[in-house]
Amino acid sequence: MPAAQATVPATDEGLLRGDGAFEVVRLYGNRPFALADHLDRLERSATALRLPLDRVALEADCAALLQAGGDDPAADLLRILQTRGGHRLLMLEPAPALPDRMRLAMVTYSPTRILDGVKSLSYAANMLASRIARERGFDEALLVTPHGRVLEAPTSSFFWVKDGRIFTPPLDDRILASITRARLLEVVDVTEAHCTQEDIDAADEAFLASSLKEAIPIAAIEAREFADANPVTTAAGAKLRARIESELSQG
Ligand SMILES: Cc1ncc(COP(=O)(O)O)c(C=O)c1O
Repeated sequence: MPAAQATVPATDEGLLRGDGAFEVVRLYGNRPFALADHLDRLERSATALRLPLDRVALEADCAALLQAGGDDPAADLLRILQTRGGHRLLMLEPAPALPDRMRLAMVTYSPTRILDGVKSLSYAANMLASRIARERGFDEALLVTPHGRVLEAPTSSFFWVKDGRIFTPPLDDRILASITRARLLEVVDVTEAHCTQEDIDAADEAFLASSLKEAIPIAAIEAREFADANPVTTAAGAKLRARIESELSQG
């Protein structure tokens, strides 16, 4: 049915308390990229939340929805939700418009500990961080702890480049185990290291990565502007794209 006509009961704790888990899968044509990894992460989120999840039913739903609507040119993303009220929602969505290069505002953020690594429906803090960044005239937020450690963006992983080497914060900084980040670590040489303002000041390039964005260059972080040329980011993005194509072609 049209997603706008689907309903969940007002009593569902997924709505009332953000108690549930979700994933967003990128579609290329009607082919989902890394669907199994997304379902694995959804299962991990559900386990952490003590949320019942029927993986077999979910896989059948994914296949049925992609069969029914995956060919729609506006179907760029497959959103999957499992709510505490026991509702499973799967939706096809168009990708939001993205700039070619992103300008980021730093927003102070503390990982919650209890929800670390969980893609829960309680994403209001991430959404608010993006909104605050946009209010300040930027495209997106870069989440930074009160102690100045740079983590990630609200829906993307963060990478920076220095002297031709690519760096990204380690997962033990309590960031999300991004599937795109994992693929990048496999196709290019990436060093995991904590990131501070000094690293950003010294960086030659920086980029964000996510299922939706693949690898997208960063034009500025607050007042720190990056050069228009970003050869290391471009090369990493090309290798990521080649990996995506190769996985898609293997079905
Ligand atoms: C907090 C956070 N970090 C990173 C990402 C990127 O993850 P993935 O590469 O699995 O899309 C996301 C995805 O939405 C996210 O919510």
